[in-house]
Amino acid sequence: MSISLSDLLKESTAAAHEQSESSPFVGELLDGKLDAEAVGALTAQLYVVYWNMESTAQAHYSQNPLLGGFLDPALERTGALESDMAYHHGEDWQGKLDDGVIPIVPATRTYSDAITNGHSAEFLLANHYVRLLGDLSGGQIIHRMVQRQYGIPDAGLNFYLFPAIGKIKPYKDAYRQRLDKLDLDEAGRKAVIGHAQRIFGYNGAIFTDLYATFGDKQRGVA
Ligand code: HEM
Repeated sequence: MSISLSDLLKESTAAAHEQSESSPFVGELLDGKLDAEAVGALTAQLYVVYWNMESTAQAHYSQNPLLGGFLDPALERTGALESDMAYHHGEDWQGKLDDGVIPIVPATRTYSDAITNGHSAEFLLANHYVRLLGDLSGGQIIHRMVQRQYGIPDAGLNFYLFPAIGKIKPYKDAYRQRLDKLDLDEAGRKAVIGHAQRIFGYNGAIFTDLYATFGDKQRGVA
C-alpha cells in the first residue's frame, strides 16, 4: 500500500470536492447574491446532520479503534450550531424545528438517515474526514465571505469557529498523520474512499435542494 490514506482520500475526492465547491448555492452564497435567511437555512441543515453524526458516534463508536481517536470534543459542532440556530431562528428554534416551521430539505434527511441507519466505523470515519477537514479548510473561507457579504456576527457563525483547537494547519497535519497510522487493509481503505465520495454527494445534494428554494427566490421567481 504505497500511497498514504490521507493522500488517497484527497486524490479520490478531489473531483467531488470541486463539484461541491462550484455548486450554484455555494457560488451565490459567497458572491453575496443570497441573504441571511439562506445562511439560516444552511445552518438548520448542518444542525440536523451534525446532531445525527455526533450522537451516533458517541452512542456506538467512542471506543472504536478506527474512529475513536478522531472524536475530539474540540471538533464537536452541535453546541456551536445550537447557538447559531438561536441567532438565526430565535430562542424557540427547537420547537420550530420539531414542528417543521424551519424547513429541512429532503437531501438532509437522506444524509441523516445514511448516518443513523447505515453507519459503520468506516462510514463515520469517511464522514468525519469530509465534514471536519472541510470545515477546517473551506469552512474558514465560507465564514469570512459570509460575514463580509451579509454582516452576520460570529454570534450566528459559531459553527465555523474552533476556539479549542488553536492553530488550524498543524491540527490538520496531525489529523492526516492519524489517518495514515490507521491499521486498515486494502478492503478497509477501499470502503472508506467509497464512503467519502458518496458523502460529498450527500453534501452536494443539500446545496442543490437549498438552491431550489433560495436561488429562485433571489430571481423573484418564487
Ligand atoms: C465554498 C466552498 C469550498 C471551498 C472554497 C473549499 C476550499 C478548500 C480548500 C482551499 C481546501 C484545501 C485545504 C488544504 O489543503 O489544507 C479544502 C480542503 C477540503 N475541503 Fe473544501 N472547500 C469548499 C467546500 C467544501 C465542501 C462543501 C466540503 C464537504 C462537505 C469540503 C471538504 C473538504 C475536505 C474534506 C478537504 C480536505 C482535503 C484534504 O486535504 O484531504 N469542502 N477545501
